[in-house]
Amino acid sequence: MMQPPKTDSTVAMKAGDTLLSVRNLNKHFPIKDGILQKVVGQVRAVDGVSFDIRRGETVGLVGESGCGKTTLSQCVAGLTDPTSGEILFNTGQGSQLGDGDRIDKLPKDRYRTFRRNVQMVFQDNFASLNPRQLVVDIIGRPLKVYREASGSDLTERVVALLEQVGLGRQHLYRYPHQFSGGQRQRISIARALALDPELIILDEPTSALDVSVQAQILNLLGDLQKERQLAYLFVTHDLGVVRHMADRMITMYLGKVVEQGPTETVFQQPAHPYTEALLAAKPDLADDPDKPFALLEGTIPDPARPPLGCRFHTRCPRVTPSCGWEIDDIVRFLEADESLFQSLQGVERRSARDADLIFKDPASAVALQEAMKSSSVPEAMRAATERLTVEGSRLRATFSEVDEVQLTERGPEHFAACKLDHLSR
Ligand SMILES: Nc1ncnc2c1ncn2[C@@H]1O[C@H](COP(=O)(O)OP(=O)(O)O)[C@@H](O)[C@H]1O
Ligand code: SF4
Ligand SMILES: [Mg+2]
Repeated sequence: MMQPPKTDSTVAMKAGDTLLSVRNLNKHFPIKDGILQKVVGQVRAVDGVSFDIRRGETVGLVGESGCGKTTLSQCVAGLTDPTSGEILFNTGQGSQLGDGDRIDKLPKDRYRTFRRNVQMVFQDNFASLNPRQLVVDIIGRPLKVYREASGSDLTERVVALLEQVGLGRQHLYRYPHQFSGGQRQRISIARALALDPELIILDEPTSALDVSVQAQILNLLGDLQKERQLAYLFVTHDLGVVRHMADRMITMYLGKVVEQGPTETVFQQPAHPYTEALLAAKPDLADDPDKPFALLEGTIPDPARPPLGCRFHTRCPRVTPSCGWEIDDIVRFLEADESLFQSLQGVERRSARDADLIFKDPASAVALQEAMKSSSVPEAMRAATERLTVEGSRLRATFSEVDEVQLTERGPEHFAACKLDHLSR
C-alpha cells in the first residue's frame, strides 16, 4: 500500500508528545433581537474548556446533543475563531508547547502546517462532499490547493488514498450519490488523509451508519491510526464507540468539561454523576444511538442561561445542598405547575440566589412556600434554602452561597468537577 511520506517534524517527535493543547477555551454565540439586532444574551456553547491531545492517541469526546462538541471541534480545527482562550499546536518547533505555538499567533508558514495537519471528518457526508464533484476532484482538491501534486501524479495519489480506505481506481470518476453511506464516509476519510495529517477530528463519523457498516469504518480508522500514527479527537454520543476507540475520554455538559480521564478508569470508576448516568444504560455498539441517555431525566437547560454552581444540578441524581441552588430553580419548578406559574407576576432579583417572587395574590405566595417545604422539591434544594418568607403576595427566597465547582484530580490523569469526593455505590 502506497503511503505519502511523513513530514520531518513527525519523525523527530516521539510518541506521547503533546500535539495539541486547548486552554480555557470559550466560544459564545451572541443572541440578537429586534430591528436593531441588539445583543440580548450569549449562548455559551463552549465555556472554559481545557485538554490536551498527544501524538498518536485517541481522545473520545462525549455528551448529549447541544453540549458543544461540534463547536469545540470546529475551534480546534481552526474552522471558527474562539471568543477567548488558546489553542496551541505543535508544528515541530520543539517538544514543549508554549505561547509561540498559539494558532492565532503562528506565522503564515507554520499556520499552513497547522491547517494541513489537522483535518476533520463530519457525520453528514452528504453535506460535506460536493455532489457535483467527482471523487477524483474531491479527494484531489487538498493536494491541488497545497500544490502537492498535479496531472497524472495527482490521480495516482488519489488512487493510493482510495486503496487505503478500501476503495479503488474504479471509483475515481463517480459522484458521491453513486455510493452507499459507508463508502461516502470512506471518501471523506480519504480526503482527510490526503495531506498526511497528524490529527483527525471525527465528528460523529459513524452515527448515521448501520451497525455493521459502523464496525467496518471503526476498524478502518483503527488500522489507519496504527499505520500512520494518527491522533484522533473522536466526537460521539455513543459510549460503546468511545470504549472501543478511545485511550482517554472527556465528558462535556452544557459547554463544560465535567470529567476526563483514561477511558477504562472512567468506565470502571466514573467520578462525575453525569458520566455515571450515561454509563448506567450500559450501551454497546449494537444499541440504539439514542438509548445511552434514556436514564437521564429532565431536559437539558438553555445554554444561554446555564444553571449556577454545577450546571448538572437541575438533573443530578446525587445532588447536594451545596451544588448551586438558585432562584431560577424555583422558576423552573414553577414552570411545571401551570396554575401557580400563571399567577406569578414578576421576579425581583437581588442576586441569582436571592429574590422576591411576586404573585397576583397572597394565597399563591403561600402555596409556593408550602410546596417548597414539601417533598415536591428535592430534599437538597430544601436544605439549601436560607430564607423562605411570605409578605403579602411576595415570597422572599434566599439560597446559601456556594463556590464554583472546579475540576479536581481523582487519580492519575483523571479529573472531575463534582462536589462529591467519590461516588459511593
Ligand atoms: N452558529 C451558531 N449560532 C448560535 N448558536 C449556536 C451556533 N452553533 C451552535 N450553537 C449552539 O451552541 C450549542 C452547542 O452546539 P453544538 O456545538 O452543535 O453541540 P453538539 O455538537 O454537542 O450537539 C447549542 O446550544 C447550539 O444551539
Ligand atoms: S456537583 Fe456533583 S453532586 Fe452536585 S449536582 Fe453537580 S454532579 Fe451532582
Ligand atoms: Mg454535534
